[in-house]
Amino acid sequence: MKIAPSLLSADFSKIAGEIALVEGAGANYLHLDVMDGRFVPNITWGPKIIGDLRKLSPLVFDTHLMIVEPEKYVEDFRKAGCDIITFHLEATVHAQRLLTHVKSLGAKAGISICPQTPVGMLEDLIEDIDLILIMSVNPGFGGQAYIPNSIKKVREARELIDAYNPACELEIDGGIGRKNIAEVVAAGVDVCVAGNAIFGAADPAAELQALRALAEPATAGAR
Ligand code: DX5
Ligand code: ZN
Repeated sequence: MKIAPSLLSADFSKIAGEIALVEGAGANYLHLDVMDGRFVPNITWGPKIIGDLRKLSPLVFDTHLMIVEPEKYVEDFRKAGCDIITFHLEATVHAQRLLTHVKSLGAKAGISICPQTPVGMLEDLIEDIDLILIMSVNPGFGGQAYIPNSIKKVREARELIDAYNPACELEIDGGIGRKNIAEVVAAGVDVCVAGNAIFGAADPAAELQALRALAEPATAGAR
C-alpha cells in the first residue's frame, strides 16, 4: 500500500524541510490539494507553487483538483510537473473526454467523488480511469472527521476495479489516521492520503511509519 502525505497540513514556512521529512520516512506520493474557493470553500495554490515544489522532490506529485472547470487548467498542472491529475466528477460534464486529455499529456488520470456521489457513477468510465479517489470527508479542509459510510464506497469501488480495470489505483482522502487506516486498506484501498495525522503529529516521520505498520498487515490479509 502507498501513503500520500497531504501538504495541506504542512507548514509552508518550512516546506522544504516538511517534504524532506516525509520523503525520508518513505512516503510514496506527495498529495497536493488545489482549491479554488468555488468548488470548495477554501483556496490553496496553483501551478506556479507546484512548479516551485517540483524542484524540491522527485516524489510522485499526486494532484487533487478541487476546482470548477478543471479542463481549463490540466495542461498547466501537467507543465508544472504533476504526475497524477485527479479532478472531481462533480466538476465537469465531459469526464471521459477529460480523462483522455489528461492521459494524452502524459499524466495519470484520476477521478474523485464527494461523499454524496455514488460509486456507480464511475461504472461507464472505469476503463479510462487510472485512479479513483474516494473522498471520506466533504472536501475543503484538513483535519475533518472521517465519514463512516466511506468504507461501503471503498468496497464498491474495489469490486468495480477488480472486475473491469485491475490496474486502476484506489485512493482514500479525509480523516485517515491510526484508528481507521487498517480498516480501509483491508477493504481494498491502495493509496491512503493523510494530512493532519502526519503533519499534525509531533514527529511526522515516525507517524508515517506507524501508519504503514498498521496498514501493511491489512493489505496482506485482505488481498
Ligand atoms: C481535503 C483534502 C485532503 C486533506 C486531508 O479536502 O482533499 O487531502 O488534506 O486532510 P486530513 O488527512 O487531515 O483529513
Ligand atoms: Zn486531497
